[in-house]
Amino acid sequence: MQERQLTPLDRLLAGANNALRTIAAPAGHPARKNPAGDIDETDLSDKQKTHAAGLMRVNHAGEVAAQALYQGHAMVARDPNIEQQMQRAANEEFDHLAWCEQRLTELGSRPSVLSPIWYSGAFAIGAASGILGDKWSLGFIAETEKQVCAHLESHLEELPDNDDKSRAIVTQMRDEEEEHGENAIEAGAAELPAPLQRLMKLTAKVMTNTAYRL
Ligand SMILES: [Fe+2]
Ligand SMILES: [Fe+2]
Repeated sequence: MQERQLTPLDRLLAGANNALRTIAAPAGHPARKNPAGDIDETDLSDKQKTHAAGLMRVNHAGEVAAQALYQGHAMVARDPNIEQQMQRAANEEFDHLAWCEQRLTELGSRPSVLSPIWYSGAFAIGAASGILGDKWSLGFIAETEKQVCAHLESHLEELPDNDDKSRAIVTQMRDEEEEHGENAIEAGAAELPAPLQRLMKLTAKVMTNTAYRL
């Protein structure tokens, strides 16, 4: 059967649909099983729960941004293989988003109220770097995933020792972000200039500090 070519309007509608399902909790069913699904809940004090929820809210906000970045990149990617690769990564990021949301509910909390801001900012950055060409867009993804991995590592240090459920989710996310970064490098990512890397770190810091509380 011949595949139908997507028109710009199809893409726009698909993009709007994705934005809505990302921002509006509940995100819906993840395609893959939650890595914390078979793990028993442990006894956490109120203080530990609040801290774990803050960290998982930051991770959820990161996944909102990841959705937007990959969708933004996919929309302007020139090479159809790269577009597909980004779409595949976006699907995995959607599972991460749903797992984080599930964990937030279990911890008696909720996602960041600023999700629409995280989404629109990241979408604009994704599309803008994509317009510069695939190698820069891939470079942006490789650097983002590298920074995200480092950040998830720090959360593994910070999460309460006995919060096995959050740890299982963050561990699988870290492994998959690492893979996304490697795939981007293999596909021809350019290394971003150091000042831009620093700017990205600064932006991420503002976002993580805010999403922990809001
Ligand atoms: Fe992710
Ligand atoms: Fe990723």
